[in-house]
Amino acid sequence: MGVPYSGGSEAGHPVIDKAQCIACGVCAEVCPPGVLTMQDGRLVADDDHGIGCIACAHCMMVCPTEAITVKGRQLERAAMVPVPSHEWNASPDQLESLMVSRRSVRRFTPDEVPRQILDRVIDAAATAPMGIPPWDVGIVAFHGRERVRELAQDTAKVYRRLLLMMDNAVARGVMRVTKNRLMRERMESFLLPLGRQIVAAHKSGGDLVLYDAPAALMFHTSPFADSSGASIACTYAMLAAEAAGLGTAMIGCAGPALARRKPLLAKYGLPAGNVPGIILILGYPAVHFHRAIRRPFASVSYYGGTP
Ligand SMILES: Cc1cc2nc3c(=O)[nH]c(=O)nc-3n(C[C@H](O)[C@H](O)[C@H](O)COP(=O)(O)O)c2cc1C
Repeated sequence: MGVPYSGGSEAGHPVIDKAQCIACGVCAEVCPPGVLTMQDGRLVADDDHGIGCIACAHCMMVCPTEAITVKGRQLERAAMVPVPSHEWNASPDQLESLMVSRRSVRRFTPDEVPRQILDRVIDAAATAPMGIPPWDVGIVAFHGRERVRELAQDTAKVYRRLLLMMDNAVARGVMRVTKNRLMRERMESFLLPLGRQIVAAHKSGGDLVLYDAPAALMFHTSPFADSSGASIACTYAMLAAEAAGLGTAMIGCAGPALARRKPLLAKYGLPAGNVPGIILILGYPAVHFHRAIRRPFASVSYYGGTP
């Protein structure tokens, strides 16, 4: 048995083509769970060693003679693609320029995002690292303002219900005994005012959730995935979209609200048990920023100094 995922729990199964294997041992060197080892000059696979083969496919990718095929865990040999030429890689300066000039964009031109660009952003995001393969992060894409508006309106309605429950003296009394001071302050100074603004905007036909964006990607995770997987994939999508000339913003206020309304998750086609995480809104920026900004981390320390 391997590490469980939403599609099963089988360990991957590396099949060695003995006629092709030159026993160089590189696959054994890179195999994370130690499933592949060299014994007496021969490559040996023990699928269930440790956590078992996770089908990361590193062995298939380092093998100079294509002597290994990993079966199981939804891995297909067709997933192997040539390594792009190094010349195509962004230089450190180019990548940093993209990152520094990126802003969270909340004002969009009327233009729609072409479907092929959205598909390309999704394909790029799928190259992000995941906890244990295969992907247990999924995406619901909202293409076109009408569909994005529907999601924003549904979210605003959830906020309206939450305010009815939380924004009153009784709920405050309960919170005084059940929540610590930090949580109560966060509620009073952030979540309730945010909710009130979202609901007020919704009432007057505005959208303070998804900012009337022409496209949105909702990243969701299965119970088997680390919830950070959604944010990591979303970050990749954000950078890919930026490179394609789009403006984006990560939206964290919608997912946790939507997660409280199971019928909405079903309506949007999330697999049962999956929870929505971060949402990326995308469109062509209507505002030009004349300056960039560099903000330091809260702290950076080199433990033990520099050798
Ligand atoms: C995890 C996360 C959640 C966010 N959630 C929201 C949100 O719900 N609504 C929003 O308008 N912006 C949201 N943002 C965008 C931030 O507010 C934005 O990054 C910040 O204002 C700094 O702007 P910059 O990205 O242009 O540097 C979120 C960003 C992150 C990383």
